[in-house]
Amino acid sequence: MSTPASGHDNIVCEARQVWTVFDDNVVHENLNLQVRAGQIVALVGGSGSGKTTLLRHIVGLTVPTRGEIFLFGENLNEVDRLKQQRLMNRLGMLFQQGALFSALSVYDNIAFPLRELKQFDEETICRLVMHKLSLVELEPKHGLLLPAQLSGGMIKRVGLARALALEPELLVLDEPTAGLDPDRSKKFIELIKQLKHTLGLTVLFVTHDLDTLAQMADRVAVLADKRIVADCTLSELGMIDHPFVNNFFHDISARMERAQ
Ligand SMILES: Nc1ncnc2c1ncn2[C@@H]1O[C@H](COP(=O)(O)OP(=O)(O)O)[C@@H](O)[C@H]1O
Ligand SMILES: [Mg+2]
Repeated sequence: MSTPASGHDNIVCEARQVWTVFDDNVVHENLNLQVRAGQIVALVGGSGSGKTTLLRHIVGLTVPTRGEIFLFGENLNEVDRLKQQRLMNRLGMLFQQGALFSALSVYDNIAFPLRELKQFDEETICRLVMHKLSLVELEPKHGLLLPAQLSGGMIKRVGLARALALEPELLVLDEPTAGLDPDRSKKFIELIKQLKHTLGLTVLFVTHDLDTLAQMADRVAVLADKRIVADCTLSELGMIDHPFVNNFFHDISARMERAQ
C-alpha cells in the first residue's frame, strides 16, 4: 500500500489550540499537533504531562476545554453524534491496560465492535474475527479463552485485534509495550510495524520506553510545558533547545549507541 505524499490535505488528526483544564489544573495550554497519513508518531512527555488526556480528546472520548480536534478533516466540535460515531469507527484505540471485557471470551471481545455496528451477520463476524486473530498471530483456539487466562503479551494482541476489528485508518496506542518483557515488547513492535505496512495504517502512540520509540517512530512529538514543544524526527530532536527535549535526546542517544 502506498503512503500518500505529505501535504496539508492528508492530515489524519489534528489538535488545534487545545486547552484542557481540570478544576485549577491546566494540563494543555494552547497545544497544537498534526499527524499525517502513513506516519508512526510517538507522543512522549513526563508522567502526568497529559498524553493520555490528549489521546482521549483525539479519539473523541472527551472534549477539550477549549480548542478544536480534527479527525479525518472533520472538526469534532461541529459534527453530530452519528457523524462522530462514523469518524470514530475509522480509528482503533488500544488502551494502556488492554481494557478487555473480563467476562467476554477473546472471540467476543474482538466481535464486540463488529456487533455494535449491527451490519454483519454472525457468519461474517466469525470470518472477520478469525482474520483479526491471524493478523495478530493468534490461533482460532485462543478465541475461546477468557482475558484472565491470557499472558500480558496475549492481552495486548487481543486488544490490538479488537482495535483492528473495523479496519481502521488510524491506530492510537497508549503505552503499547508497557508491562511486556523486552522480548515480547520487540515482537509486539514488529507486529505493529508489519500491520502498518500491510494495512496502510497511520499510528499515534504514547511511550515511556526508549527502545520502543527508537524501533517504531518516524516522528516524535514532545509534550512538555503543557504543549507540543517539538515535533520532528528522532535525529532532529538534537537540534531543539528545550531542557526536557535535551535530557530526553541525551538518554535516547546513549541508548542507541549502546545498542549498536
Ligand atoms: N478526568 C480527570 N479529572 C481530573 N484530572 C484529570 C483527569 N484525567 C486526567 N487528569 C489529570 O490530568 C493530568 C494529565 O493526566 P494524563 O493525561 O493521564 O497524563 P499522562 O498520560 O501524560 O501520564 C494529570 O495531572 C491527571 O491527574
Ligand atoms: Mg498516560
